[in-house]
Amino acid sequence: CGIVGYIGPKPAAPVLLEGLAKLEYRGYDSAGIATICGEQIKVIKQKGKLEVLEAALADEELGGSIGIGHTRWATHGKPSDENAHPHYDCSGRFAVVHNGIIENYQDLKDELIKEGHTFRSETDTEVLAHLVEKFYNGDLLETINQVIKQVDGAYAMVILSTDEPDKLVCARKDSPLVVGLGEGENFLASDIPAILKHTRKTFIMEDGEVAVVTDQRVEVFNQKGKVDKEVYQVDWDIEAAEKGGYPHFMLKEIFEQPRALRATLKGRLDNGGVLLDELKQIKNLNDINKVYFVACGTAYHAGLVGKYVMENLARIPAEADIASEFRYRDPLIDENTLVVVISQSGETADTLAAMREAQSKGAPVVAITNVVGSSVSREADAVIYTWAGPEVAVASTKAYLTQLAAAYLLGLFIGQERKVLTSDQVTSVTQALRELPEQLEQVLGHAETVEKLAGEWAKREDAFFIGRGLDYAVSLEGSLKLKEISYIHAEAYAAGELKHGTLALITEGIPVVALATQSSIYDKTVSNIKEVKARGAHVTAVVFEDSNISQSVDQVITIPNTIPLLAPILTVVPLQLLAYYAAVARGSDVDKPRNLAKSVTVE
Ligand code: G6P
Repeated sequence: CGIVGYIGPKPAAPVLLEGLAKLEYRGYDSAGIATICGEQIKVIKQKGKLEVLEAALADEELGGSIGIGHTRWATHGKPSDENAHPHYDCSGRFAVVHNGIIENYQDLKDELIKEGHTFRSETDTEVLAHLVEKFYNGDLLETINQVIKQVDGAYAMVILSTDEPDKLVCARKDSPLVVGLGEGENFLASDIPAILKHTRKTFIMEDGEVAVVTDQRVEVFNQKGKVDKEVYQVDWDIEAAEKGGYPHFMLKEIFEQPRALRATLKGRLDNGGVLLDELKQIKNLNDINKVYFVACGTAYHAGLVGKYVMENLARIPAEADIASEFRYRDPLIDENTLVVVISQSGETADTLAAMREAQSKGAPVVAITNVVGSSVSREADAVIYTWAGPEVAVASTKAYLTQLAAAYLLGLFIGQERKVLTSDQVTSVTQALRELPEQLEQVLGHAETVEKLAGEWAKREDAFFIGRGLDYAVSLEGSLKLKEISYIHAEAYAAGELKHGTLALITEGIPVVALATQSSIYDKTVSNIKEVKARGAHVTAVVFEDSNISQSVDQVITIPNTIPLLAPILTVVPLQLLAYYAAVARGSDVDKPRNLAKSVTVE
């Protein structure tokens, strides 16, 4: 979900709407705004995308120069007008927007109902509005302090009240919130892009902080009292977060990958090997005897590649695990286990919880993330930033690719520090890494071939991706990409496993992508390709330029030669393009696929 708030001389509604438009990628099943208009709070909220809210606002003008807004991605309660934020109390004097989850909301709600409060929605958030009403004693700041004592869970919340119409009050715990500092006006937002048009000066709210924001002043408090906040000056551009001429953010982000990869590698490769000063924070790197990569979604798929890379380059046993599983299974880890969490946003609730679980068991944590100042980056023991720039499309592309690059740097660095690799081996991998951005450009040059193939795929309802080893890890990502944006059902299979069941689903004409870049198991993969060909599959192979596979398949997509270990960086690109063009051909909303959100800050 996304939050914005405004107080100042301008009409609030347009400022809020603009801000919400920049945050829509955080959730978009409903949206709403509330302003203080004369003596009253006015709320307009609608199920559906922001356009629906805009249309409603065009019909009914909202006055006022103080307001709050929200885009929602449903958790408690289905997407509906009633469940959209802002929520308000019985008297209509208090309105609230909230990101996160109030875990004890049912108990609180039952109690409030007994006390006579009437609820309008099924959300956990509405409880906050009624709690404010219950505790209000003439001082909104004191009231919010009372309210947060009652609630368990995660929140970024902003409250406005007709009793104190000159201020917004907000609080943060485990869900991001920033204050934008203007001249005679101030802003609140869950993410910086929402306020960047107005100001580059911000306060990043920390867990446990509350703030009172007027048009002239921002005061931040924690349990100990007033906090002397440092101004964080945003030094990146809003244009970077806009489409730049591409029809969709996803395509723009796919084509940004050479640049993003250069940024990840910049300053981290030199003639002697890998430089990762970030890792100095991990004191016992030489004693590490196990590595876990923990993440969700696409980032988890990057972790699967990380596992192979760590075992190959550093010769340390490694596992990849899904954060929502890892956090609850009492993992066998200790201070000699390195836990690598991967998260584009750095705010994914499950990943954050898995990280805390690891830290509570004494394991050092390295974070691979794209967002500076994110929760994951602030709590990890060491951070490798991917520097991919803002990623807006829900389906992750450049973030994944740069996560892979970070995993290579990490594996190579540990292999080099522990002297598992000879200097020649280090040099050959670093040299190959350096060549990758240009090779990526070559792969992108074949986009048209993939677009044609995607036209055929778009007509199908099922597809398969197969590969062995690293090719299997990339198959999983290719399959996920296709599913999430084109809604074609897809499965990724370890090529050798297909015959143990799923081969039954291979019928005449079914599209299969076979990745075959791992030279040590190339022949085995070719045998598996023949198995599906024999059942009538239409096979597209993704292989190195020097492969002779063309007689065995229907179509070949080649990638430039590199060492097989690095192939995932190149092979994933045609798979991303295939998903993209298939989704476009099927008329899907590519950047905002149904039911998904870019950043999932709830469990
Ligand atoms: C959501 C997104 C995915 C993403 C996952 C993890 O489910 O839709 O694209 O891979 O979260 O996000 P993170 O920000 O932690 O990488």
